[in-house]
Amino acid sequence: MTKYVINGGRPLTGTVTISGAKNAAVAIIPAALLVDGVCRIENIPEISDVTMLLNIVEQIGAEVRVVNRHTIDIDSSRVQTTDATFSLMRRIRASYYLIGALLGRFGRANVAMPGGCNFGGVRPIDQHIKGFTAMGATVNVQNGIVMAHTPNGRVKGATIYLDVVSVGATVNIMLTATLAEGRTVIENAAREPHIVDLANFLNSMGADIRGAGTNVIKIRGVKKLRGGFYSIIPDQIEAGTYMAAVAATGGEVLIRNVIPKHLDCISSKMREMGVEIEDYADSVLVRRTGPLMRTNVKTMPYPGFPTDMQPQISTVLCLAEGTSVVTEGVWDNRFKYVDELMRMGGRIHVSGRTAVIEGVERLTGACVKATDLRAGAALVIAGLSAVGRTEVEGVHYIERGYENFVGKLKALGADIDSITVPDDGMAEREAV
Ligand code: EPU
Repeated sequence: MTKYVINGGRPLTGTVTISGAKNAAVAIIPAALLVDGVCRIENIPEISDVTMLLNIVEQIGAEVRVVNRHTIDIDSSRVQTTDATFSLMRRIRASYYLIGALLGRFGRANVAMPGGCNFGGVRPIDQHIKGFTAMGATVNVQNGIVMAHTPNGRVKGATIYLDVVSVGATVNIMLTATLAEGRTVIENAAREPHIVDLANFLNSMGADIRGAGTNVIKIRGVKKLRGGFYSIIPDQIEAGTYMAAVAATGGEVLIRNVIPKHLDCISSKMREMGVEIEDYADSVLVRRTGPLMRTNVKTMPYPGFPTDMQPQISTVLCLAEGTSVVTEGVWDNRFKYVDELMRMGGRIHVSGRTAVIEGVERLTGACVKATDLRAGAALVIAGLSAVGRTEVEGVHYIERGYENFVGKLKALGADIDSITVPDDGMAEREAV
């Protein structure tokens, strides 16, 4: 088992470079299955979710060539199978994008449902299925496998109103609709930066998608996509996580390779808390010298405050003067990590989707366990700011989504190490 050992209390200083966006990469890799040719994808983050997804597309017949650490070629011209039911599929939530990609390209797909539920709640796919069905597919879920097929091998464009703003359903419908017959309209679509990135990727390969980034996306089906080059956007949440780390520890860090506009929702909250943030063309300078002030946060779909930053901001608010209220507006149960923060001296009371956080002067080091990716990042931030030694277990979650987290933090002056100890056999694996 690998764990992180942190001796906290050091302010972060220096420069950190943000990697490509995880949630864009995990949509764009399956999207490459729609392309009849070679896609060169740059700025791929080196994280385990990407490795798993590349294994998955290889298993169904795509050729993946690693050009360098952050660039790959995917050639899907010889993919013929519509079956992705092997066990690896259950390890990663984004494997459900294979349904949209295979259904869109071949008119049928048998895909294993991703297992687990990392926030302790149900993660339904009813809106995805609503989209596939509206486009003429018959969809059945049996023995953990989603089986979708169309009578004549090609889906048909349709107008789909999403009952909830869902990133996954928006992506899956875009993938299905790209090669469909006719025009698809997604109403109440998600507007996250990675939705726009997926649309830009598909358009650069010959798709006709308009409106991504607004809540109405219009897709005119095309017969074929050709190969091309694409570079993935920087990771908004990785950048936000370093911003939160600086807020918690104090210090001054230049965060490079970001799109400051994507960070506005995070920056504006942090400014309210007394963190100084200066925006430049493709970087932000984050500085915290004075005390942290309380605030209230409610997570919402983009451009609201991101749910994937909720554990990190809650950790920072543990150190703010006064009482803050954090309301989770996207997921039913995303406060599992709070028990671990309380072991470090955090004063938090959770009731349903709301956490009331009473600021303390300092957190204290403890042995804690990550329950999911962002919870893990939050515990690392807590450890960096705490007095004494913190051990964070369950780091496989963190490594699903943060490239070289330990190395990047060390370069900012953190005292953090990744150590491997004999496994107690209790490690759990869940899908993000
Ligand atoms: N929902 C439904 N029905 C559906 C789909 C979603 O009711 O068919 C509900 C969910 O239960 C949830 C809300 O809609 O309450 C939003 O879910 P969404 O579909 O947007 O989430 P997702 O696509 O499964 C992605 C990210 C998550 C991120 C959410 C929200 C990926 C691979 N995952 O999940 O990222 O929290 O959007 O922004 O893109 C992470 O990176 O740590 C992570 C969990």
